[in-house]
Amino acid sequence: MRIAFADLSTPKSGVFAVLVGEGGAMGETAAQADKAAGGAIKRAVATLGLKGKLGEIIDVPMPDGVGYSRLVAISVGDPAKLDALGAQTIGGKLYGLLAKGGERQVAVAADAPKGEALAPEDLGAEIAYGMKLGAYRFAKYRTKGPEATPPELTSLRILSAATALCRKRFGALDAIADGVYLARDLLEEPPNQLYPESFAARCENLKTLGVVVEVLDEKALARLGMGALLGVAQGSARPARVVIMHWQGRKGGKGPLALVGKGVTFDTGGISLKPAAGMEDMKYDMGGAAAVVGAMQAIAGRKAKANVVAIVGLVENMPSSSAQRPGDVVTSMSGQTIEVINTDAEGRLVLADVLWHVQKKYKPAAVIDLATLTGAIVVALGGVYGGMYANDDALAANIVAAGEATGELMWRMPLHDDYDPQIASPIADMKNVGGREAGSVTAAQFLKRFIVDKTPWAHLDIAGVAWTTKAKPTVPKGGAGFGVRLLDRLVADRFES
Ligand code: BES
Ligand code: MN
Ligand code: ZN
Repeated sequence: MRIAFADLSTPKSGVFAVLVGEGGAMGETAAQADKAAGGAIKRAVATLGLKGKLGEIIDVPMPDGVGYSRLVAISVGDPAKLDALGAQTIGGKLYGLLAKGGERQVAVAADAPKGEALAPEDLGAEIAYGMKLGAYRFAKYRTKGPEATPPELTSLRILSAATALCRKRFGALDAIADGVYLARDLLEEPPNQLYPESFAARCENLKTLGVVVEVLDEKALARLGMGALLGVAQGSARPARVVIMHWQGRKGGKGPLALVGKGVTFDTGGISLKPAAGMEDMKYDMGGAAAVVGAMQAIAGRKAKANVVAIVGLVENMPSSSAQRPGDVVTSMSGQTIEVINTDAEGRLVLADVLWHVQKKYKPAAVIDLATLTGAIVVALGGVYGGMYANDDALAANIVAAGEATGELMWRMPLHDDYDPQIASPIADMKNVGGREAGSVTAAQFLKRFIVDKTPWAHLDIAGVAWTTKAKPTVPKGGAGFGVRLLDRLVADRFES
């Protein structure tokens, strides 16, 4: 979709969208349009008994001669309570309404009823951002039928009293949306197309933005001693890769923020094979890595003044005669040994080595890992909140705040040494599963053993939120790209300048 910005005016064609508030309150542009349409909006509010809740829509076809084909009034709810997320919802809802018809263009007057809390430039930019987020589709593998045809709506114009500023604000949001799109593309790709090498190739595209990208092959991983990660990969014909991406938007200062992603491009469970039903879902077991790569695209795309290093562990977890067995003992890069009781608890094995490497090599100021790690977190929190574990209260609070600001919610879960006996092994330093109880906590306790000294660290278990089965205005069904917006916001709020 082409997105452009212009001064407030009345469009001559396409759809004209204006904003209304509770009880049909209108700003100047909406009032003018209503008058031109013979009071159609006021009439609709009165006769239909509309309350003006956020996102409520009045859609009035215009008679010949008016120029624009439809006047769409969309409600901001209480203008004093309208925030960035609300404006994004409005954009997403508008897209949802218009993508279905044969409309090619829409002009949105980003002029709210009096008393609005958002500055006009933010209002316009956030509506455009919401529209772009809602417009995501993945049709690459459709060859026929309506899904193969791109929607006709291809042009959005935001009309604003602060055109230049609005365009500028959108510039940064556009980069973030590109990061979300990249993460969604990676999640959607089928596992015969997206495997460690092809995932790494996608990461290399970030070089065009000025990101330094280093791809480690199996030989390099063996030299580093990543026995835990390589143990997972050894059952697959697809060789493992680890990709390090470094964005240096600020020189000097403390160590970088390190972002770490689980990138299991397909998780069969290995020899501890998963049941057939729903196994196809395990193509999105690289959701943590997708979030991290998407965040790097966003951060570099908007030229963030921050120092961020990202690392993703890319493997395919397959059963074969070369696969690791339950009972195998592997030596992680940290030197700690792990008895692999269940080959389906592979994510923590991958993370153990990439966590260790990024800390040893970059001495980061903080480490955040993202992973579709456990079914247990899905049982605990469902598809609403992701689960967060942290050894640092300030970092935890910053992550929760960034999540609330972006709509990517995180709920803090406990870490405690009293869970450790659950992962004690009779023959190695630890085992990779902790039994049925508190399954996502024992996974976090396991990861904690690969955090160096007192490095501030947070682990985000996103197994329940990486893939959406119920569409939201700004998150279509499928790969959500969850984490990109949260991480970008965290960087903006806590790691820039
Ligand atoms: N990738 C799965 C976790 C998962 C579950 C992701 C549902 C997305 C949706 C992970 O590798 C896994 O298999 N975890 C096991 C661990 C168990 C064997 C200790 C689980 O949660 O059942
Ligand atoms: Mn698994
Ligand atoms: Zn997995």
